[in-house]
Amino acid sequence: MTARRVLLIVSGGIAAYKSLELVRLLSKAGVGVTCVLTEGGARFVTALSLQALSGERVHTDLWSLTEESEMGHIELSRSADLVVVAPASADILARMAAGLASDLATTLLLATDTKVLVAPAMNVRMWTHPATVGNLAVLAARGVVAVGPDEGAMACNEYGPGRLAEPPAILAAILAQLDALPGGRARTGPARRGEAAAERAPAQGDPDGHGLAGRRALVTAGPTHEAIDPVRYFANRSSGRQGYAIASALAALGARVTLVSGPTSLPDPPGVAVRRVESAREMLAACEAALPADVAVCAAAVGDWRVADVATHKMKKTAGAAPPTLALVANPDILATLARPGEARPRLVVGFAAETQDLERSALAKRVRKGCDWIVANDVGAHTGTMGGESNAVLLVTAQGTESWERMPKREVARRLALRIAAALAAALPRR
Ligand code: CTP
Repeated sequence: MTARRVLLIVSGGIAAYKSLELVRLLSKAGVGVTCVLTEGGARFVTALSLQALSGERVHTDLWSLTEESEMGHIELSRSADLVVVAPASADILARMAAGLASDLATTLLLATDTKVLVAPAMNVRMWTHPATVGNLAVLAARGVVAVGPDEGAMACNEYGPGRLAEPPAILAAILAQLDALPGGRARTGPARRGEAAAERAPAQGDPDGHGLAGRRALVTAGPTHEAIDPVRYFANRSSGRQGYAIASALAALGARVTLVSGPTSLPDPPGVAVRRVESAREMLAACEAALPADVAVCAAAVGDWRVADVATHKMKKTAGAAPPTLALVANPDILATLARPGEARPRLVVGFAAETQDLERSALAKRVRKGCDWIVANDVGAHTGTMGGESNAVLLVTAQGTESWERMPKREVARRLALRIAAALAAALPRR
């Protein structure tokens, strides 16, 4: 696979220091980074720091003749798979919206046909000013996607939206954009330059580029209960927490979510349509009834087998007789059924892999076997405390490779996954 490459423009603002962490995370994720530092940005971080972390020369000057002869500013942006502006100040957003080319960064942005992602950061009043709101709308209409800003305490002693999104969230949005590129992440510049603009799907985003308004999501969660007789059943240790958190996170981004849940003790997440079922077969029927959907996330721990003949009455012990033998038959595979090619297939199908050994290898194989787009793999060995617990450490397996997410609360796994889903849908897929 050709290495993925991002052109990172660091503009001015107190949050510029977070760009150093972003460069570190990108490098760790195997993404090459070329940095461009604006004059404002250089007041907060140095070219030397960015260079040390990216391992590449940092570009600052539009008029550098050496650069022109070595590379050229147009080539600089076109050789990247994605252009990222983080932090994106109110000023650079305004200049982008106006189409100015007053320095190296804005010249690159005007000259590029590469997808652009911005991570705005500014004072809350600047963020809510009609001028900025208008500029963001102009940029969104042109296909620029945005991540953040977050809400919180600001350097200027104010509170509200305007804080730069955290570097892991920006990384997640970048990876989602790279994932969504036609033919995977590797666009290699000059050879494919002509075809790139035509190939790339137009961005269909919300104004913030990451909302799920107008999207339909289907999530499965929890265990299934497979009846043995009217009072006994097979089950597993799934609590449903991860799936419920994903349903909530998707709803929080504006999706219309149907959660098909096996038996759990969890309350219905607000704003989510919940269908409660018991068995795998009921779960499949409820899922099929919930289609069409733009995305399906199968987080349920579905029982693989059911008893071939469920006893009509409670099975009784008979003195002296051997214990009964239960014949099992396979349950339908809900994930594989939803992922089957066809009109009803959600555009993005995400499965989970619960494993107790060989996590990555099993997950890679499972992704292919089930025909889904992504697999979120987790180690459910008893020592991890994942099943039934509050936190999770996952691998995200996509067509482009595997990412490892450190252990974090299930709510945070859900939030990140929802952001990735939103970005993938916004980047590549038209709304239903
Ligand atoms: N799954 C499903 N229907 C099934 C079994 C599994 O939809 N009958 C889904 C799960 O929701 C999960 C994925 O398939 O998204 C993988 O589940 P997992 O239990 O890890 O794998 P299995 O298919 O059961 O395979 P194995 O037990 O052999 O690892």
